[in-house]
Amino acid sequence: MQQEKKYVPFNRVSLPDRQWPDKIIDKAPVWCSVDLRDGNQALVTPMGIEEKLKFFHTLVDVGFKEIEVGFPSASETEYEILRTLIEGNHIPDDVTVQVLVQAREELIRKTFEAVRGAKNVIIHFYNSTSTLQRKVVFGKDMQGITDIAVQGARLIKQLTEEEIARSGMNIRYEYSPESFTGTEIDFAISICEAVMEEMGATKENPIILNLPSTVEMCTANTYADQIEYFCRNMKNRDAAIISIHPHNDRGTGVASAELALMAGADRIEGTLFGNGERTGNLDIVTVALNMFTQGVDPQLDFSNILAIKKVYEECTRMHVPERQPYAGELAFTAFSGSHQDAIRKGYEYMKNSGTAFWEVPYLPINPADLHREYEPVIRINSQSGKGGAAFVLQQTVGYNLPKEMHPEFGNIVKAAADAYGDELTSKQIVELFKHEYIDLTGKYSLLRHRFTELNEADGSVHSRFEGSITIDGVEKYITGVGNGPIDSFFQALEGVGITGYKFVNYHEHAVSSGSDAQGICYIELKKTNGDHIFGAGIHSNINVAALKGIICAINRAEK
Ligand code: KIV
Ligand code: ZN
Repeated sequence: MQQEKKYVPFNRVSLPDRQWPDKIIDKAPVWCSVDLRDGNQALVTPMGIEEKLKFFHTLVDVGFKEIEVGFPSASETEYEILRTLIEGNHIPDDVTVQVLVQAREELIRKTFEAVRGAKNVIIHFYNSTSTLQRKVVFGKDMQGITDIAVQGARLIKQLTEEEIARSGMNIRYEYSPESFTGTEIDFAISICEAVMEEMGATKENPIILNLPSTVEMCTANTYADQIEYFCRNMKNRDAAIISIHPHNDRGTGVASAELALMAGADRIEGTLFGNGERTGNLDIVTVALNMFTQGVDPQLDFSNILAIKKVYEECTRMHVPERQPYAGELAFTAFSGSHQDAIRKGYEYMKNSGTAFWEVPYLPINPADLHREYEPVIRINSQSGKGGAAFVLQQTVGYNLPKEMHPEFGNIVKAAADAYGDELTSKQIVELFKHEYIDLTGKYSLLRHRFTELNEADGSVHSRFEGSITIDGVEKYITGVGNGPIDSFFQALEGVGITGYKFVNYHEHAVSSGSDAQGICYIELKKTNGDHIFGAGIHSNINVAALKGIICAINRAEK
């Protein structure tokens, strides 16, 4: 790619004594969803009335108190949707609907008609103020642009007073110097001050000044500098609610919003999952849940994130990407073995220590807080490590494989995932374990058995094994005496020439409770060449589970 010098670096605000880097976000801002306006206008197929209503109710359920519902003067459809919301009594008393309008007389008048009958309304008006838009779109100087805003403000104030006199409607004002990030900062302040003065904003009746990053033009810190500069240099800071409206052209909308909050913003406009023009608006879900993970109550409830995502996808026909923070299908999935191992240890630590804190590596939030499951946390593909498959067995069927067995079973799973060419489900992993160990048939099988305790003259106790096995389908009686049941079985096997195995270790535990209680036994044997091999057996009698485990290990060794 050839750098042709046609791109010029962003002209930053000079703020050497900036304070925001030392600030923290310790309370929720006022949230305003612009899904039904900014988000909707960016859809290939804009939402119809049914979809807008469904989306609106979802936003209300999440806890939004300010919702921009459309641009009613822009089209008949937008107008009708607002009328349906009002006339159908869909707007709760504690929710304010916000409507957008350009600072143009005929559009402002139409907007006031559209909001009739609503209880709480924000009239949001805007005009473009940036250097570039003044030059290439409007052909106006700063004064010309200020006049547009002030005339709009004057008419809105007049119509508001008339409407309040008529209906007592609760009307608030919002002004956006559109393309704020591309506007000379002192001009942005002066146009906002002119609007504030025209509208008579006071501490008791503040105006919302929305400072949009209509186009994200530089790193997130430059937006924060602009917000802090604006807040520090404007007159009557108390008479304004400073709102931000980041877009995401550089992919840093969330960072811009967070730094702008640190820089003094009181309010945020954005959309669920970041839908919006071009690369989208700010993703409110991410900002809110980021806050949640810092111990700050975001005052929005995204605990039903998957249900919210479903509504979003149905209404917008957009797709939430798999890697989307918190909501993506893979957001709580670790494929890497070392990650899986650390997550498993984290869950164990949480359980055993009783810690009051969330302390699981690689998971910044407990998936259960979002009604998401533990089960998909570990998924198995050819990149997964030895502990992951063992974790799945533990979670799904309660098998606690001894640690020494993890590499062997991990390799079996890895080979299966390679051959399959895809990730394996928990069900496939359990089936793989059963097929490889529990249900394995081979050269040897156990038919009958009996143990007898032998009390020796010197006071020691031995065990005698007597029974039948089949070798390649042929039944054979075997017997042996040893220090215990396992040893006596080994002696019996050696007596018929099954040699070359040294018993190394044995683990057992119950796998179900009640009348059908069963035990599972894991056996580790060492072959003469030094290799270790494992077997497993399940039976209601734990001694039989052990014998089955031994036969399983030998069958596997001779496979
Ligand atoms: O991005 C933007 O500047 C807007 C304004 C209308 C607020 O959507
Ligand atoms: Zn926007």
